[in-house]
Amino acid sequence: MTEAADSMAPAIAFRTVSKSYGQHQVLFDVSAEIPRGATVAVLGSSGSGKSTLVRCVNRLEDFQGGEIGVGDVRLAPGVATRGARKLNDRQVAKYRTDIGMVFQSFNLFQHLTVLKNLIEAPVGVLGWSKEKAVARARDLLAKVGLPDKEEAYPSRLSGGQQQRIAIARALMMEPSIMLFDEPTSALDPELTGEVLSVVKELALGGRTSLIVTHELTFARDVASHVMVLDHGRLVEFGPAKEIFRAPRSERTRRFFESGGLR
Ligand SMILES: Nc1ncnc2c1ncn2[C@@H]1O[C@H](COP(=O)(O)OP(=O)(O)OP(=O)(O)O)[C@@H](O)[C@H]1O
Ligand SMILES: [Mg+2]
Repeated sequence: MTEAADSMAPAIAFRTVSKSYGQHQVLFDVSAEIPRGATVAVLGSSGSGKSTLVRCVNRLEDFQGGEIGVGDVRLAPGVATRGARKLNDRQVAKYRTDIGMVFQSFNLFQHLTVLKNLIEAPVGVLGWSKEKAVARARDLLAKVGLPDKEEAYPSRLSGGQQQRIAIARALMMEPSIMLFDEPTSALDPELTGEVLSVVKELALGGRTSLIVTHELTFARDVASHVMVLDHGRLVEFGPAKEIFRAPRSERTRRFFESGGLR
């Protein structure tokens, strides 16, 4: 493939992705091509499959049908490949370092200080020197407004602070893709703003992001694209401006009218 053609290739291509938990099918033939650099708001009511879809991208979940292309990696049921080669566990771990993930529940290592939370993967998985990792961590802690917390343990921090640390940790290896799964839904309303502004200022620019959120105002503000799931089916996908102005599906229209509430 030529370089020009390659830069046109989608960052993430979902191709008829289906997933079940036991007998319970939760994703049905989801297909969507996410352009490079897009910020995609992933919307839908509770249980519609948003978290599951996003978790399939970094292989936290396997799936039973279809495939997901992420750059030059192809994820298929039970296997990840690059070209003709199957990725082993270590290569999958490395693949994950190019994808930052921020969860609703922060998911920091509680037994490690903030600084150690940040440097653990770059040093352990990518083999960065400790000096390089610490320098980058300090830079990011300053950028998320928490330069004085490097020796703190997560349990001593507010939810908003923990989430800003989690965002800094996800950005350590300058991932080309960021996945956010309801990054503010566990926070008090007054802490939500500070986290969303860190997401907007720091995490989105120049990379491809999928953001599961119920914050429709935020989605309108930052999203270039919108994806709406309903009972595991993709009912809407396209440019945010068009969809917010005139959703194609009745389901999306009702979802917007409800204010994105669960
Ligand atoms: N580990 C699991 N085992 C069995 N079923 C699961 C599991 N995780 C999710 N499900 C089911 O899959 C469906 C989709 O769940 P998912 O968490 O992806 O929804 P969601 O859109 O993220 O919802 P919410 O907005 O509440 O987070 C739901 O019916 C859920 O009960
Ligand atoms: Mg969810």
